Amino acid sequence: MDWKVSEREVAGDVLVLPLWEGKNKPANSALNGLARSSVINTKSAFKSRFDGKAGSKLSVWGEKCRVVLVGMGDLEKCSNKVARDAGAKTLSSLSKKDGTNLTVRFTTGWNLDSMLWFIEGMMLRDYAFDKYRSKDKKEREEQGEWSLDIQASHRYLKELDAGITRIVGRVEGVHLARDLANEPPNYLYPMSYAEKAKEWAKDKPNVIVEVYDWDDLQKKGMYGLINVGKGSSRKPCMVLFTLNPNANSKDRSPCIVGKGITFDTGGISLKPGASMDEMKYDMHGAATVFGLMHALYATGHKGRVRGIACLAENMPSAEAYRPGDVIPTYSGKTIEVLNTDAEGRNVLADGLWKSGEFDPSYIIDLATLTGAVVVSLGHEASGLWSNDSELLEKVHQAGNQEDEIAWKMPLLPAFEKEMTGSKIADVRNLGKSRWGGANTAAAFLKQFVPNRNFDEDSEQIPWAHLDIAGTAWGASTNAMVGHGATGIHVRTLHTLITNS
Ligand code: BES
Ligand code: MN
Ligand code: ZN
Repeated sequence: MDWKVSEREVAGDVLVLPLWEGKNKPANSALNGLARSSVINTKSAFKSRFDGKAGSKLSVWGEKCRVVLVGMGDLEKCSNKVARDAGAKTLSSLSKKDGTNLTVRFTTGWNLDSMLWFIEGMMLRDYAFDKYRSKDKKEREEQGEWSLDIQASHRYLKELDAGITRIVGRVEGVHLARDLANEPPNYLYPMSYAEKAKEWAKDKPNVIVEVYDWDDLQKKGMYGLINVGKGSSRKPCMVLFTLNPNANSKDRSPCIVGKGITFDTGGISLKPGASMDEMKYDMHGAATVFGLMHALYATGHKGRVRGIACLAENMPSAEAYRPGDVIPTYSGKTIEVLNTDAEGRNVLADGLWKSGEFDPSYIIDLATLTGAVVVSLGHEASGLWSNDSELLEKVHQAGNQEDEIAWKMPLLPAFEKEMTGSKIADVRNLGKSRWGGANTAAAFLKQFVPNRNFDEDSEQIPWAHLDIAGTAWGASTNAMVGHGATGIHVRTLHTLITNS
């Protein structure tokens, strides 16, 4: 999407006027640049047909320009969600058949924040994964991109321009995460993700991408990843991102770890067939890590940030790991495998332990980890667990700010006890019953979060876990997305990292 900011003078092919309820007499500047007939028709629409109620929309057709009145509801109730959702819904209702020169004009009641939220909603929604749909792809290429003219009072223009520049970088990151997660599993597998990451880093001087391939994993003893991935002909790997490796070298920096199961069949504990195709999204944690790295890069973040993607394809085969196996991990702890479908935690065990080597300020992992979190929270919120109340609160707040809700969940000692109660290994990869399955999974992960300097006597590194199984795709209520992957928590983590 092309964009610029300008004063309220000319109108494009389509003029979007988002208006607050009760302000039914628009400021004079609202109708600048329209033909006389359009001005008359729009004014009469204000009188009789349009009251600005939330969700209402009215099109006034003119010869040169289609005016779209968007009802924003009560100004007092404006929030980041209200404005972002309205922007997204407005964009999805427009057709490029009316022309691609789109003017959005802000008048009475709008301030810098609310304008930015509205535009962010529009930009987030301007996405389709149509590369394999020949007709759609062709049509899109013929019609071209939207060209967006954002208009407001002169005094806002400078800050709007800066704010939108930042939003564009974040939206690129979200769309990149969606692209990765939407990609079919025959095209997106562990080493192809790694190649994309290398390619992305190539021309960026302040970025390093390192890949541990099959041989490296063996040398390092990362048997969590190896065991999950060895049943597939597409071998597992670990991808390590560093943004700004030379930044403030004395300060600690965050490390974000993502589950990257490029397809989850369940392995020998095979999943039932219904909706198994959706398990291509089982690498959304790793997709978010990559998208976040891009968002931070594109917005010029100066601090050091690490990312770790744990990539494997979970397949049944003669080479596959099995229930009953006991596997060593990078941490030295052993896992009793009771279900090969609880694979995410096995790969994350190696990723979490690895992150301790960077002495990070904190660790956050993202994983489409359990069906149980979808039972708990539906598609409306990710589950959030942490060993550190301050970090817990910060992630929760950042999620609220971005309307990517991260709901606090309990990390109880009883769950840890359940997961460390194996008779033959250090940790079991399955709870003793199915109850509280998202909590027992989190308690498992905690066993692989290192103490500072790997020292028995020091504290565990602050860590938070986001179970995104319900939010990575499939929420009909998420106005930012038409179909498929959401790019969840790229914005949450971007806000968290750039605010501190
Ligand atoms: N990737 C799945 C979790 C999942 C299921 C995400 C449905 C989104 C929708 C994960 O690897 C898995 O299979 N988890 C098991 C764990 C169980 C065996 C303890 C589950 O949730 O059933
Ligand atoms: Mn699984
Ligand atoms: Zn999985």
